[in-house]
Amino acid sequence: MSKINKSNLKFLNGLFWEDKEEAIEKKLKGASLELKEINSKSLGNEGPKHRIIESDNLAALQVLKTSGEKFQVIYIDPPYNTGNKDFKYNDHYVDAEDEFRHSKWISFMFKRLEIAKDLLSEDGAIFLSIDDYEQARLKLLCDGIFGQQNFVANFIRKNKAGSGHDSKQIAVEFDYMLCYAKNIDQLVFNLENVDVENDTKYRHADTFVKKRGKYYLRDLDYKGSYSKSLDYIITAPDGTKMKSGGKIGKPNTWRWSQEKFEWGIKNDYIVFKKMPKSWKVYIKQYQFVDNKDKVRVRKLPHRALIEYSNSKGSNELKDILNQDIFTYPKPTDLICFVLDLFENKNVKVLDFFAGSGSSLHATMLQNKIDNGQRTCTLITNNENKICEEVTYERNKAVIIGYTKRSGKKVEGLAKNQLQYFKIQVKK
Ligand SMILES: C[S@@+](CC[C@H](N)C(=O)[O-])C[C@H]1O[C@@H](n2cnc3c(N)ncnc32)[C@H](O)[C@@H]1O
Repeated sequence: MSKINKSNLKFLNGLFWEDKEEAIEKKLKGASLELKEINSKSLGNEGPKHRIIESDNLAALQVLKTSGEKFQVIYIDPPYNTGNKDFKYNDHYVDAEDEFRHSKWISFMFKRLEIAKDLLSEDGAIFLSIDDYEQARLKLLCDGIFGQQNFVANFIRKNKAGSGHDSKQIAVEFDYMLCYAKNIDQLVFNLENVDVENDTKYRHADTFVKKRGKYYLRDLDYKGSYSKSLDYIITAPDGTKMKSGGKIGKPNTWRWSQEKFEWGIKNDYIVFKKMPKSWKVYIKQYQFVDNKDKVRVRKLPHRALIEYSNSKGSNELKDILNQDIFTYPKPTDLICFVLDLFENKNVKVLDFFAGSGSSLHATMLQNKIDNGQRTCTLITNNENKICEEVTYERNKAVIIGYTKRSGKKVEGLAKNQLQYFKIQVKK
């Protein structure tokens, strides 16, 4: 059993961990840090200016914090801490037998996320990909850092299909993406257009079908918060007097006021149905117009259940670099989904576990789709030359154009600029 130095124990929101100084922190102590551009790697001369920073992210985050720069969108895909050579702590892989495995991961993430919080603009949000190895701990950690009130959603991403053969009990085909606002009162996400065209609940048609579309019937009788102005007598076609819930008084009312009901009768929005002993009255809910006969596009908040496959991510990268060089890059459509949640098409995007650089690729694609001017900053270390040979080369290819494995040519997204930086540590 390894010994814990009690003075290093940290506690946050139900989590305990040992906070040891990392080698990079020792190196940075008392040093001044600067971004140093590698001019030979600069690309492009028009369009949004993106950056790749080759560095341990702790150092690069500190430089960004000192500069005062703010980002509206932060997306990260940290090591999932699977115990299978995916998480390096102080230059050593953390394996499944390490009894401080989770403690090291929390300590590592805490230091970086605390700075990330400072880098978020007030109307911004952070998105964190994770899976079952650390999801529970990351949720507690983020609740502690960003505040439980700023929790937006835990997106559940179906990332593969058919993992049944590898699974002992249950085939898990999902990972997650936690989302936190910097300030929940200032975060506004775009809504999703609802596909009413193919919604089978709209079954009936009347003479207004061309303009209003089909409709379904909603009971006018309603049991919600009581209001006297909604509690009145309706006369059925045969003269029968109808009261909501069968009587005047709590709890039932009609959904519409008397004035609105009369408008509904005049404009054919109301349907009476004769039951064996009584009458029922309904509102027609149309596909293409609202309850004021105004054309509407139906919009609802996006759902937390999403589907973006890992295999698409792998194929995208293989198509560019023509080799199986990096495992599990995220698919660009996942990041495009994140970017598209924001109304502002000129947001500043940061990814500080950039890996193969899918986030920059996605930013350039999304800008092309909607004429945005978003800029993206990537930070990644150069483990196995990933930053130089994968992150940079991939995004360079996206800017200048490339040929897929199938032989199909993909035109470059030429209206983008790319700068490459390293960090200079001065003592
Ligand atoms: C899971 S991968 C990210 C994959 C990425 N989302 C993509 O689509 O390619 C995590 C990456 O973070 C990098 N990384 C891990 N620790 C880091 C650190 N302290 N500083 C900078 N990069 C780090 C690893 O080298 C790895 O490439």
